[in-house]
Amino acid sequence: MHLASFLGLCLLSATASKTASSVTVLFHNDGDWTTHEQKQSALFVNQPATHKAAVATCASYGETLLDCDQFGAFANDLAYQEYNHDASGLLFWSKCNSSAPINSKGALEKDHAGSDSLELPFLCTNTAPFVKKVDTDYSGFPRVQTPQIEGTSFEGLRDHMAFRFMGIPFAKPPTGDLRFKYAQSIEYTDAKVNATAYGPACLQSGQFDGNSEGLNPWGNSEDCLSLQVFTPSLPVGGVPSKGLKPVMVWIYGGGLATGTSSDSTFDGDSLASRGDVVVVAFNYRLNIFGLLTLNDGTITGNYHMSDQITALQWVKKYIAAFGGDPGNITIFGQSAGAASVMGLVVSPEAKGLFNGAIAQSIGGFVKNQSVAAAEISPYLQPLCHNSTGEAMLKCLQGVPTETLLNASSKASWQTVIDTVYMPEQPLSLVSQGKINSVNLMLGFMPEEGQSLMATAIAPNATNFNASLDILLEMNAVNQTQINDIAASGLWDVPKDYNNIYNATANLVTDAIILCYSTEFVSAGSSPAGNPDAFDSLWVYEHQRGYALSYYDYYNLCTFPVGKPDTPYYRCHSSDLYEVFGTYYLFDQPVRVADDIYYTNAVQDIWTAFARTGNPNPDKAYLAARGYNSTAELFGRFQLEEYGSKTGQLAKLQWPQPWYDSIPDQDHCRVMSLDF
Ligand SMILES: *[C@@H]1O[C@H](CO)[C@@H](O)[C@H](O)[C@H]1NC(C)=O
Ligand SMILES: *[C@@H]1O[C@H](CO)[C@@H](O)[C@H](O)[C@H]1NC(C)=O
Ligand SMILES: *[C@@H]1O[C@H](CO)[C@@H](O)[C@H](O)[C@H]1NC(C)=O
Ligand SMILES: *[C@@H]1O[C@H](CO)[C@@H](O)[C@H](O)[C@H]1NC(C)=O
Ligand SMILES: *[C@@H]1O[C@H](CO)[C@@H](O)[C@H](O)[C@H]1NC(C)=O
Ligand SMILES: *[C@@H]1O[C@H](CO)[C@@H](O)[C@H](O)[C@H]1NC(C)=O
Ligand SMILES: *[C@@H]1O[C@H](CO)[C@@H](O)[C@H](O)[C@H]1NC(C)=O
Ligand SMILES: *[C@@H]1O[C@H](CO)[C@@H](O)[C@H](O)[C@H]1NC(C)=O
Ligand SMILES: *[C@@H]1O[C@H](CO)[C@@H](O)[C@H](O)[C@H]1NC(C)=O
Ligand SMILES: *[C@@H]1O[C@H](CO)[C@@H](O)[C@H](O)[C@H]1NC(C)=O
Ligand SMILES: *[C@@H]1O[C@H](CO)[C@@H](O)[C@H](O)[C@H]1NC(C)=O
Repeated sequence: MHLASFLGLCLLSATASKTASSVTVLFHNDGDWTTHEQKQSALFVNQPATHKAAVATCASYGETLLDCDQFGAFANDLAYQEYNHDASGLLFWSKCNSSAPINSKGALEKDHAGSDSLELPFLCTNTAPFVKKVDTDYSGFPRVQTPQIEGTSFEGLRDHMAFRFMGIPFAKPPTGDLRFKYAQSIEYTDAKVNATAYGPACLQSGQFDGNSEGLNPWGNSEDCLSLQVFTPSLPVGGVPSKGLKPVMVWIYGGGLATGTSSDSTFDGDSLASRGDVVVVAFNYRLNIFGLLTLNDGTITGNYHMSDQITALQWVKKYIAAFGGDPGNITIFGQSAGAASVMGLVVSPEAKGLFNGAIAQSIGGFVKNQSVAAAEISPYLQPLCHNSTGEAMLKCLQGVPTETLLNASSKASWQTVIDTVYMPEQPLSLVSQGKINSVNLMLGFMPEEGQSLMATAIAPNATNFNASLDILLEMNAVNQTQINDIAASGLWDVPKDYNNIYNATANLVTDAIILCYSTEFVSAGSSPAGNPDAFDSLWVYEHQRGYALSYYDYYNLCTFPVGKPDTPYYRCHSSDLYEVFGTYYLFDQPVRVADDIYYTNAVQDIWTAFARTGNPNPDKAYLAARGYNSTAELFGRFQLEEYGSKTGQLAKLQWPQPWYDSIPDQDHCRVMSLDF
């Protein structure tokens, strides 16, 4: 009998391995979102037990031990467990035989009849529902619970692809005496936090104000500081200190005036299952509620930043209970969310809270308090009889939310320079190297200005001067810039652009997104800035876009199914489905199979960056997981760190990315948007 060596081999899964006890949703996310629902799902219970106890544990989940003939569907997932455990030859209990375990190839191993005490990990079925639409009724989903951490535990749900925890409050309600105050961290008084339903979005106007567009069934409230956690694996028995997964914390965009973490675009199931990361998305206060400053030393602004930082402090404190590594946190965001990412990178208050950052299409400048205050004051003074300081604060804390939201629309909302959260302009802090230690990846879309013009300028526009007037009115450019643009001759039609609309879309792309993004690159890499500002810097431009179903003016941001050669704009936010893989929640078709492979590549790049600080996925990882499309791409391409010597920008595309210099730097110089 070789029982001793046999035991020595297979018990390694829990006792001698790098991971503690856990339950993992096994779901082979091959990127084809049209078949996610049909693909099999199982639970890997890495908590060695006798066959009898395994049967009982599966039953306690409302499941049964997995049939041995189902194991084949999980070949890659089991191989990945072996990769993760630095072990081969793992054995598992199945439904088929109570004395002969299954190996990772799905075959019955030697019989061990008589060894009723043999303890092995095992697989259970996972019959939990697939989350396939925005307005999902979560009441029937199986409940799960984290181990206790800091005296509390979190009750969430299991679904077809991952575990999800929704609506976790992370700060005291910013209402009443706490309105226009920095966020205060929360102390849980209950032994169990109910995280089985989304919380309301913050107060705002537009698409996520109520559910008129089918995007926000969860309502709106001033009491909105909650977050979501999506994890592929849940610790069992206690909070582990080893084998924890990288954490990616999402910051939504929306001009700091709109948006919500419960937007299904950011559902974390796909990214968590594909990339084996823990995904967190939090709400932060918006518009007047999050950004009001009266420049009076009392109402100081940047409440939204205090929310973001309080959420990150929550992540550091609690995420290990969800299987996440508090020492390995990457923040990522898009548009105003990317501007927020950069804000956190430079904010002294955010020091030590993360080690990676991804800024997707940085959008949103930082202004000084006096300018911000001058803009809104005239609309608030009449509400509070021209009071000032504490009296003004007390008065505004009593003003109805609807009145404030009305006033909010009179101003634009930006992060301000305030001595606490934002001591200087972010670019200036980067160039001085006065920032938090971070690996940074940043990039943008080629024609995202198309979306930012909304319907202010129509595709049939014929007069560039008239377009410029509209852009001036929109504050996309100022008068000095307009004069310089007109004098430059760089947007000539037909010499440089074949129509006015395209010239204008390019101008807006540069003025609002591209130039500011590349200023960060210059400030953090060129000799004129601080070449050592970032631990590492990676710069990309997506060459493929997929329009959000609810954000595509004139239907120009996508190509028809099966017709990839149709010209289209790679629009603002057209990278979000690519990163989150959430097409299926909005019934979006696969236009061509390359959409799937591109999404796979993007998710693998993003999660590799979170895992190691280097966006090149590990080849052994890709092989173990069976991620052959990405393995193919990285067989012929390598992402390179940005250096001032090469000045290289990775143009991401399937099947073949390439390198080029950063575009439009002459445009940026004309608009004084060069660092
Ligand atoms: C499976 O279980 C049965 C009944 O306990 C036993 O007779 C058989 O030998 C076992 N092993 C294999 C490899 O099927
Ligand atoms: C948790 O919250 C949901 C949604 O509000 C509710 O339906 C459920 O009963 C709550 N569960 C517990 C245990 O309180
Ligand atoms: C704020 O900006 C305005 C306009 O650009 C400028 O006049 C003022 O000096 C600035 N104030 C501070 C404190 O930087
Ligand atoms: C506020 O001050 C302005 C200018 O001093 C004055 O015209 C106005 O009547 C005052 N409003 C209130 C509500 O006191
Ligand atoms: C908010 O503005 C709308 C539209 O201008 C108006 O009908 C409504 O009365 C205002 N509400 C409050 C509380 O000021
Ligand atoms: C341009 O398009 C808009 C709608 O997109 C239309 O209302 C307008 O008449 C068109 N103008 C011209 C000159 O064709
Ligand atoms: C646009 O403005 C420039 C400078 O003011 C002027 O020279 C040019 O004729 C104008 N073009 C059109 C089409 O109005
Ligand atoms: C116009 O914008 C540019 C770029 O931000 C800036 O350098 C310049 O000072 C602005 N000019 C005016 C008059 O505001
Ligand atoms: C305008 O730009 C888009 C996006 O680059 C391109 O596909 C299209 O061909 C251009 N349109 C014209 C008329 O040149
Ligand atoms: C995350 O943790 C792993 C293991 O500790 C480490 O190798 C890696 O460098 C960390 N990633 C980052 C981005 O720091
Ligand atoms: C990856 O492998 C699967 C299954 O073997 C195959 O169907 C698919 O075409 C491959 N994809 C690529 C891009 O190689």
